[in-house]
Formats: sequence, C-alpha cells, structure tokens
Amino acid sequence: MPAIAESTPAAQRHRQRIEDLIGAMTLEEKAGQLNLLADPFRWLPKAVNPLDGQGNPARVTALIREGKVGSLFNGVGAEAGRRIQQVAVEESRLKIPLLFAADVIHGMTTIFPVPLGEAASFDPDLCRRTARAAARELAASAVHQTYAPMVDVARDQRWGRNVEGAGEDVLLNNVLAAARVHGFQGDKGLDDPEAVLATAKHMAAYSAAIGGVEYNTTDMSEQTLRGVFLPPFRASVDAGALAIMSAFNDVNGVPASGNRKLLTDILRGEWGFEGFVLSDYTSEQELVAHGFAEDARDAARLAFNAGVDVSMVSGLYLEHLPGLVRSGEVSMARLDEAVRRVLNVKAALGLFDDPYRGTDPERERAVVGARQHVELAREAGRKSVVLLKNDNSLLPLNKRQKIALIGPFADDVDNVWGPWSIWGMPERRVSLEAGFRAAMDDPSLLSIARGSGIEAPLNGGIEQAVAAARAADVVVLAIGEGQQMSGEAQSRTEIVVPAPQQALVEAVAATGKPVVILLRNGRALALEGAVKNAHAIVVTWFLGEQMGNAVADVIFGDHGPSARLPISFPHRSGQQPYSYDRKTTGRPANPDLAQEEYKARYRETPNTALYPFGFGLSYGDIVYGPIQMETDQLQWTGTIEIAAMITNRGRREAEELVQLYIHDRVASLTQPGRLLKDFKRIRLRPGQQEKVSFTLNPRQLGFIGADEAYRIEPGLFDVWVAPHAQGGVASTFRLIGPPSITDGR
Ligand code: NOJ
Repeated sequence: MPAIAESTPAAQRHRQRIEDLIGAMTLEEKAGQLNLLADPFRWLPKAVNPLDGQGNPARVTALIREGKVGSLFNGVGAEAGRRIQQVAVEESRLKIPLLFAADVIHGMTTIFPVPLGEAASFDPDLCRRTARAAARELAASAVHQTYAPMVDVARDQRWGRNVEGAGEDVLLNNVLAAARVHGFQGDKGLDDPEAVLATAKHMAAYSAAIGGVEYNTTDMSEQTLRGVFLPPFRASVDAGALAIMSAFNDVNGVPASGNRKLLTDILRGEWGFEGFVLSDYTSEQELVAHGFAEDARDAARLAFNAGVDVSMVSGLYLEHLPGLVRSGEVSMARLDEAVRRVLNVKAALGLFDDPYRGTDPERERAVVGARQHVELAREAGRKSVVLLKNDNSLLPLNKRQKIALIGPFADDVDNVWGPWSIWGMPERRVSLEAGFRAAMDDPSLLSIARGSGIEAPLNGGIEQAVAAARAADVVVLAIGEGQQMSGEAQSRTEIVVPAPQQALVEAVAATGKPVVILLRNGRALALEGAVKNAHAIVVTWFLGEQMGNAVADVIFGDHGPSARLPISFPHRSGQQPYSYDRKTTGRPANPDLAQEEYKARYRETPNTALYPFGFGLSYGDIVYGPIQMETDQLQWTGTIEIAAMITNRGRREAEELVQLYIHDRVASLTQPGRLLKDFKRIRLRPGQQEKVSFTLNPRQLGFIGADEAYRIEPGLFDVWVAPHAQGGVASTFRLIGPPSITDGR
C-alpha cells in the first residue's frame, strides 16, 4: 500500500501545510479535528441512531467556527454542504475544511441490493460497480466518506447485521471487501471528484456476539480472531481503505474501542495502516458501561491511547483530550499523530485544494439517481436472486397463465430497499406486483392477495388468499422478514418465517396448486412445513429499488438464476452459530444416517445445512465430472492444477459457480472440515461442457498457528471441485515441504 502522504499528489503537496497547521493549533483545535458530530443541518429522512434529530444547528455552527469540529456525518446535499463548509473555511481561525461522511451501505439515492444479497452474486466486479455508483452519487452530494463496507464475517444468523456483510466465508468476505473499497475509492486517487473514502467496519469480531445478541460480548481464540474475523479488515487495508471504524463489543475481555492490540499493534504495527480509526457511535464512551473505564474522562484516555483517533458523537475527545494532554496522561505526540492522520486524509481527498468539492447543485442533479444507476440496480438485483428448489422445472413461469401473487410482500413497496437505505426515492420502488405485470404478456392474469401481515394475521386474509389460489394456475407466495427485522439491533431468537405467514402458506399449499416461495430475508432462515416443501423456493433478500423487476427477470426466465448462498440455511434455528467451515470434531456424524449415537450431532436433526453455503440452482442441469489432476503432489515451490469437466445436460442455458474447497487432514491445530479457496463462473449452453481448472499454491494452504503466525504445514489435503459446500467431486494431494513453515503474516 502506498504511504498515505504519497497516495495522492494532493496529500504530497500539503505535507508541509499540515505540519504548519499542527504547529499552530491549540490543544482545543487539535481535539476539534478529532471530534465527529452528527450533521444537524442537512437532510436525514429517518433516524438511524439513538440521538438522531436532536442535534442543535446553532451550537454546532458555533463549534465549527471555533475549530472544534473535524467532521460531520449523515447529511447529504450539495448546496447546504457548501454553506456548512463555508463556516469552517471562512469563519474558523485555521480554515481547515470539514470532512463529511454518511452511512451509504448499499446505495445513496439509487438503492442497490443489501450487501448480503449482492454477495450472493459472488461477483466482485458487480460489487465494485454498485459501490462506484454509490460513490458517484455521494461525491456529487458533498459527502467525502462512507461508513462502508461492513466486513464482519457472519457466524450466527440470529445476529441482525449479517444483512450488511458478505456472509459466512472468509475468502468471499476478503474478495468483496477489496472490491467494495475499490468501488468507493475508485482508481484515480481520493481527490478524484467521484471518489469517496471507504470505512471498513466494525473492528473487530462484532459479528461473533455470543448468542447472536446485538452488541454482546465476544470470546474466542486468537486463531479464530486472526483466521476468521481479521482477514477482511486486512483485505480492506490492502485495497487502500484509509478509515476503520472500531466496534461496540468487547473481545476476550477488552472492548474493541479500547483495544490497543487490535487498533495499534495489529492494524498499524502488522498491517501498516496509515489512515484514521474512528469510534462507532459513542463506542468509546461505552467503555464505562463495559466496566473498563471509570468515567468519561478515563474512557477518552483509554480509547485514544488504544488507537481510536476520532470520536463519534459523544464529544468526549473535545471535552477531555486537552486536559489529558496537560496532565500528561495522553502524550502530545499521540495527539499530533491522530490529528496528522485526519489532516492527511483530508488532504488526500483534495479538500485542501477544493474544500467545496461536490457542492455544485447542477452536477448533483445530473448524477444522483442517474438512469444508468437504475439499470445497474436491476442488473445487481437479478444477479443476487438464489434458486434453492425447482421441482419438475416449475420455474421459469409461463407469462401467459393465471398467477396468484400472495403474501405480505405481493404488492408491498416498504420492504424492497432493506435496512440502511436512507436517501432513496420512495416513488422509484418497484413492487413485485409492478414487476410481474410489466413482464407478463397479459397482466390481467395476475391476481393479488396479501393474506397476512408481516408479523400479525390479517382479518379474513387467509380465506381471500385461498380463493385467489384456487382460481389460479400457479401460486407465488412472497413471504419472509420485513426490512425492520434485520439490521442494527434486530437480533432474533428463532430465524423462522413469522407464524402468521407460515399459517398462510400452509393454508394456500393445501389447495394443491403448484407453489413458488419468494423469500424476503436479511439473514438465513430455517424453513419449515409447507414453505420447505413448496415446489420452488427462491431467495430474494431485499433487492433494492428495482426489486420487482429484478425478481420478474428471473422468475419468468429472462435471466437465469446465477447467484449462490453466501450463508448456510440450517435445518433449525437451534443450530446457530453455524457456518459450513466448522471443524470435524473427534466424532464426526455421518449426515446420511438419520440417527447415530455418540456422534457430534443433535437428536432432532443432522448438523448439516438444509441449503449450504455456495448452493444455488440454475435453469440448466449441471453435472460434475471426476477431478482431474496430473499429479497428487504439490511441491513447496510449485503449484498444482485441479480441474473437472462441467456439463450442462439441461435444455436451457445456465451459469454455474464452480467452487474449490480444501481440507487440511492433519495439522498442529485442528482445521475446518472444508474451506473455500477459489471460485469461477462459467456459462454453458444446453449440452455444452467445459473444463474448469484451478491452480493452488502452498501459500493458500496455511492457517494461524498456536504462535498466532500464519503457518503452512506439509501433509495430506482433501480437495473438492464443487457446486456448494456439501457436495462436489473429491480427491487428495500431498503438500511436500519442510516440516512446517511460518511466514509471519
Ligand atoms: C452505528 C452503527 O453500528 C454503524 O455501523 C454506523 O456507521 C453508525 N451507527 C453511524 O450511523
């Protein structure tokens, strides 16, 4: 990674100016640069944090004038942005521009699929392109930084925020984190008028909350921390992200926002990160509630000395850092270092050259919600739809038949965006009904019945739905979670379809009509009864503003389903925490046997997934030929080719996501039963076959050892070329080499 001072010509040019500023600043002005407040001036259509709407514009204006605010977040808009910036650069003593940030997680005005849904595309370039479009809109609305990507690896589907991430696999998280950082920041330097600063969050292990309870404690081995939760942060830093947000939770007893090992030793010392670390909303203040700091002053001291450079919302740094420096509890060198990091990023963003970047209302009008972004939203939507089941090729649906579209999401537009969509245009949301009608040859053949509310029954709803089903050739049931059921602070105990909707599906299925389930969800769901037994099941997440069109594209066959699950769908809620890459244990259960005593399994269900990570059908019929390897030995300095012939025996074109998994049979620490190492997408016409081949090298085969270093150990490996984490064709190879190698990563 280039050193930040060199990362853009802008930053280089302002090196001396930054040192001069630091030399001229009072302690209060230095603390001011580290003070990040909610934007009380600009447009925030809905509250997303506890104190939203309570900001005081007059007070914040005065603070900006006094040089006591460094950044503002969660307001957008070019014209008002100019007015606020003007206060900083014309009325404050040192004229340092403000940094404007926003929570743009999956689109600003044009809303794309939720990140988890988009991860199902397994398409880094698509993720890069939607992030690019979001950055373009943001940058044209006088915003310089987004609080994305969230790179917390999903381990427990009860936790509500998995919807914001890239799922349960480490490799997929790494690849998509890098793609999203590249997308937000662009490739022309941060001072490019279309670039925004990316923020990898929440460091670290936030998603490992015990019991899936939001904000809960995490407790884990160093191997799990370094092997599962930290890699996507490293990938973000390597991709050039210059901001990191610290997490709310504690990790092995030390709150993440007071964790020197994480935020300084690893992030700076090991990875060479040169940007700034900001707390999550009051997370530094929460060191008191954690029982880690005595009071607010102590919390400021601990967080700041641990490596949190910027404080979000609490005002703690402004209040306490000057005193802490005067008393010697915080060094001036540490304070200057944090200020330098913030000013360097501001310079890299070009704010010292043009503090008014992004404040041209005309450009804002041209860019925000642009037509090509809407087309991209539809493309991203249809590429995120996962087909789980398709008995007797019920799908794609014929456009000339009577369809009953039933369920709380049949004609709904309030749950197409998904959580964290703040500045979208409500009138652009496309319901399933609208998408279906636009796609059907004769839209009058579509009937609609809600049948049920999301979490409460609807009076007479089931009767109406059953009547609609009886009159139709095929039933499409749009059911699942409302968008308020996932996201921050939306943990669930049971990851199931809400009971009133389950009852609706049971009643409709009893009519005997063919049933297609369209699941709306921000997490994996444990499917039961008539939902599980439906003829066809499709995962549609929250696909963003083009949801209805995107689903119709797939359901009616204009686009073949090409996405795969980035999270495993378990049999039962009680299997959580669950991910495909769990260890074998000393008593592995045979998943094919219904009951087996004294094995690692539950009484009621095998501990496999109903639909595993990587799973997804196409409209083709794909078969995998045996693994082809020219050798079964991988030399220490060499590579090994692993291939398989993939054939489409079906009658329709298909896209297949071919996945490569390994299992390290014997190691000095026990290893996952399977681990994804690569994936490739191919497109096959009916009858076509293609040899797909992967190259592995020894560096891809290591793990975090007992000494916390990355180790590669020779020995036997299982390998699968597979359509998902529970299938595929298998073989073995042996890594030949010195007894064990530590490479100090
Ligand atoms: C709290 C959330 O955890 C974080 O992801 C978000 O960026 C901040 N609030 C700011 O809204």
